[in-house]
This record gives sequence, structure tokens and C-alpha cells, in this order.
Amino acid sequence: MDKILIQGGRRLEGEVAVSGSKNAALPILISALLTAEPCYYQGIPDLVDIHTALKLLSGLGVRVKKEGDPAVAVGHFMLQADHVHKMEAPYDLVKTMRASFLVMGPLLGRFGAARVSTPGGCAIGARPVNLHLKGLAEMGASIDLVHGYMEAKAKRLRGAKIYLDLPSVGATENLMMAASLAEGTTVIENAAKEPEIEELATVLNKMGAKIHGAGSNIVKIEGVDELHGVSHRVIPDRIEAGSFIVAAALTRGDVRVLGARPDHLDAFLLKLKEAGVALTIGADEIRVKGDGKAKSVDITTLPYPGFPTDLQAQMMVLMSVSEGVSVITETIFENRFMHAQELVRMGADIRLEGNRAIVKGVEGLSGAPVMATDLRASVSLVLAGLVAKGKTEITRVYHLDRGYEHIERKLSALGADIQRIKG
Ligand code: EPZ
Repeated sequence: MDKILIQGGRRLEGEVAVSGSKNAALPILISALLTAEPCYYQGIPDLVDIHTALKLLSGLGVRVKKEGDPAVAVGHFMLQADHVHKMEAPYDLVKTMRASFLVMGPLLGRFGAARVSTPGGCAIGARPVNLHLKGLAEMGASIDLVHGYMEAKAKRLRGAKIYLDLPSVGATENLMMAASLAEGTTVIENAAKEPEIEELATVLNKMGAKIHGAGSNIVKIEGVDELHGVSHRVIPDRIEAGSFIVAAALTRGDVRVLGARPDHLDAFLLKLKEAGVALTIGADEIRVKGDGKAKSVDITTLPYPGFPTDLQAQMMVLMSVSEGVSVITETIFENRFMHAQELVRMGADIRLEGNRAIVKGVEGLSGAPVMATDLRASVSLVLAGLVAKGKTEITRVYHLDRGYEHIERKLSALGADIQRIKG
């Protein structure tokens, strides 16, 4: 297993380009199942989770072709689901990547059958899929749990009025895709409003779907008989952008984060301003000039447009070396503070009380051997290593590779002393 070694204390300077959004690309690639025509995607990031999704789709019979000159055409793919011969998402893939469960909606919507392993929990929480299943059942699917697999059937899904008890991103995406080919109109109330939802609706509408209101809490989908092919470049990854912004603030550097969409990061950027981080906001770039210590601010993670849970671990690092005391409340997942103990080993002063972390700013962190536990916790350890005195060694970096494209290359180019030790 690879390790990452960081010698802390370097200021980051220069510019870094944000890769395509993992959480937009995953449902968009899966939506290719909804048509027999070729779908062309650009800007797909080179991530473990993306490779897992492509492997899953190929296993169903989807043709997957890397497009363009591999040297320059980063992340150009053609997918075509004209010979889907299997309706099953196997446990070994679904357990490594929960987003695999998103094949349920398209398979049911287009083929009327799906056999998808239940994802099971993950490090950050139980992460049930009851809202996905409830919505599909309301659209007429019969669903049974058989030997750990959800077996679903529907002659043809029919439009329904669905209320989500929680604004679940995945459930909204699964149901939007299923409803695109259903008979009649579906309304999803209390839908998730993340930019990735709007992006998926944009792609589906380009394929001929009739979706209105994506990005608001009420999404209306008028079912159509079939969808056609599409060509689309995915939006930049707002969480990667936010992670680099924190890195620049932590190291009191001067970094331009290119491709970042400020409109996708409102709550996060406002919190950074409140903490006194100097930001220059452009249309598609954000410049960070970290000067002096940040001020401690309180943070509560919420569904979009609230503060994103996927940037909570990164902010905890900044708060660990800020002036004052910060209360961080995690309301989305029940176990998303695993990075806290590792940060404490690096000298942070963090006390956990249920879903709250009390973070008292300290003078500085010190490098240590630490272990990554989940995707965003792993990047918070990288951030801590950048600013800690001495050497930090991070193990289990496969968590990092799920969601960050060549992060050590990007950070080295900004001046960090970071290297990957192949294991
Ligand atoms: C998506 O996960 C993202 N993943 C997550 O990013 C992100 O943290 C999360 O949305 C919240 O923003 C992808 O887009 C691939 P949810 P998802 O359904 O869809 C509960 C990362 O780091 N819930 O909005 O699984 C659930 O337990 C990942 O990139 C139910 O109870 O999130 C959680 O507490 C981590 N029943 C809350 O809702 C359900 O049927 C939010 O989950 C579904 C969800």
C-alpha cells in the first residue's frame, strides 16, 4: 500500500487547476445506461472511483472507450449502452463504491429490472438507501432483499409524487434518472439541491429528458419514451477546489485555484472570509493569500447550500491552528470525525462531544505517522502535514486516490515537499 511523506513548513505559491467533479461525473457516467446511443463525456477525472464506475458499467455490457489523445485529452470517454446484457451490480464493486447503487434507477427505468447489492455501511456512517427504495417503490417497482441484493422489477415505472424525509443527494439522482423514462410525471419534494444534481439534470435534459426545478427542493420530471446520446464536459470539483483553498490559507501562501466555481462554494467562502482569509474571487478562479493566523469560526455542516460536510475535515485542520476556539457540528453523517484523533496526535487540541468537535487553536502542529480512514479525512491529514513541523507519514492513501487526482503532483508544483512512496 502506498504512503505519502510530507516535510511541512513550505508556503504554497502558484496556480493549480481543479479537476472534473467526482460527484458529478459518477451519476453522469451511470446515466449513459438510459440510452442505446453513444454518450461523449469530457473532463472526467482520473480517480479510483471513476475506474470502479467504468468497470461496473462495462460489466453490465456498456461499451467504454477512452477518447482523444491520452496525452492531452484528459478524461474524454465514449460510453454506449446498446448491448446491456446484465442487470446486476455485484457486491464486490458496490461495497467499494456506494455510488454504484445509482445504477438501480436507470436499469429499472430503461429495462424494468435490476439486481443491485445493498451498499452496506462505510467508515463515515450507516448510509442506508431506504429513501432510494421508497421512491422507486412509489413509482411501481417491486423490490425484495434477497441474499444481500436488492432485486427490483417493474413492467414500466409510473410517475409519482415522492417526498424525501432527508434531501438525499443519491436518492434524488437515482429517482431523477428512473423518472426520466417513466410513464407520466414524477415530483420529488425535499430534493437535494447540490450543484451535482443540477449538473445531472442538465445532462439528462440534453438527452431529451424533461426535468424542471433541479437545484431547488422540488424537482418535476415528465417521463419520455426514450433518451438519445449526449456530449458534455463535467463541472469542476468544488470539494477539490475547497481543499486547495484551505491548503493555501494554512501555509500562508499565495495560490490561484483555476477552474473553481465560486457560486458552488458560497457557504464555504463566506466562512473563510469570516475567519479572515484573504480571497480574491474571479468568475472561474479563486485566489488565496494567507497572511497571518485565521480566526476561529463555528461551522455546522448542512445540505446544500449549507456548509458542505465534504469540507468539514479540511476546515478542522485550519481551525486547529487558528486564533480562538471553534465549534464544528456535523449534521449529515454520524461518524465523520475520525480525522480528529489523528490530528490530536499531531498536536491539535480537539475535544469530541457527540456530533460536535470543540477545536482550540494551537501554536502549530508537529509531523507524525498517521493513518487515513476515509476520503476527506485523508486529505485533511495531507493538509495538516503541509503545515506541521517536521515529517508526516500517511498510510492507507488509497482512500485519497478515490477522490483526488494526482494530489501530490499538484501540491509539489505549488512548492510542497511531498512524495508518494509506492508500497
Ligand atoms: C453524496 O453521498 C456524496 N457522494 C458524498 O460525498 C456527500 O458527502 C453526500 O452526498 C452529502 O453531500 C457522491 O455524490 C458520490 P446522501 P450520498 O444520500 O448520496 C442519509 C465524498 O466524500 N440517507 O445525501 O450517499 C445518509 O445516511 C462523498 O465525495 C438516508 O438516511 O449522500 C446521510 O446521513 C462522501 N437514507 C444523509 O442522508 C437514504 O436513502 C446524506 O446522504 C439516503 C441517505
